[in-house]
Amino acid sequence: MNLKTVLAVVAGVGFAIPVAAQEREFRLGLITPPVHVWNQEVEALNETLQEESDGRFSIAAFPSGQLGNEATMLQQLQTGALDMAWLTTAEVTTRVPDMAALHAPFLVDNIADAARVLRSEPAREILDGLPRATGTVGVCYAMTGMRQLMTREPVESADDLDGMRFRITPAPAIRTFFEMFGAAPAPMPLTQVYDALANGQIDAIDMDFESIINFRYYEHAPNMMVTNHHMFGMVALVSARVWADLSEEDRTMIGDAIQTHCDRTIDRFVEEEDGKLERLREEDDIEITDDVGPEFFGDIVERWDAEWAEQTPYVARLRELVAEF
Ligand code: BEZ
Repeated sequence: MNLKTVLAVVAGVGFAIPVAAQEREFRLGLITPPVHVWNQEVEALNETLQEESDGRFSIAAFPSGQLGNEATMLQQLQTGALDMAWLTTAEVTTRVPDMAALHAPFLVDNIADAARVLRSEPAREILDGLPRATGTVGVCYAMTGMRQLMTREPVESADDLDGMRFRITPAPAIRTFFEMFGAAPAPMPLTQVYDALANGQIDAIDMDFESIINFRYYEHAPNMMVTNHHMFGMVALVSARVWADLSEEDRTMIGDAIQTHCDRTIDRFVEEEDGKLERLREEDDIEITDDVGPEFFGDIVERWDAEWAEQTPYVARLRELVAEF
């Protein structure tokens, strides 16, 4: 007798037998390539989840934007067509303006403080707005490090940035920063950046060490300014529809497993950031300008804060938090 027949018979005689909990493979999308730390931690998450659930749960990862760009993945999560995704905080700002505060320019000046912000109470509160605004549950944050500027041509002063076509991650708060110093922001997904640089469609990029190493952007933009001008966060998301279908116990188990790998991701970035810069120094093709601070950009921090404080109280809250570090 197959399972269907058994269930039909059981239903027919009016009593229930305990049925072993169903096995389930969650589909998880990312824009980053398999070499990226996020993808490595998602692989590790798959192992953790299989162990913790005695094989009931597993994860199939779809890297490199295979399921579409981040905006598309966010829509898929909302409809339940996708179970999970590790998306940039930048993408989520398009639906949750409070999250833009995490992209405040020069909010922190080092990666250890970026980690403290991402683990802070105000940052966690921002996640509370996700179910309503995006149809997702934001389980935890991680990051891909601090962002730097890479240009085709050398830059001597802020005036040189005027009119430069800068690739940015599509997000209004990031656009504001680049517009404020006179650049022409070109929003595009990570997967298109290398070709856009190679074919001259853009002059410069806003990027983190991890991605600069993985994609070798310096082959076409050999001038790197170490600005650390904003932190680049990630949010581990689960479709709210999928979450609602899980038992309380399973939610706790899955949430804890995801949290473990968010934490490991953050720890790895904090530990490895300096080493990545040193690796880049060893490349013959890169000209590195160190320690480019907020003063390089004039009064941009004040102007950015004034504009974004109108959109979200978290700009002031996070600045206050960091002032106490
Ligand atoms: C980006 O859009 O620049 C990006 C996205 C995910 C990871 C790293 C970079």
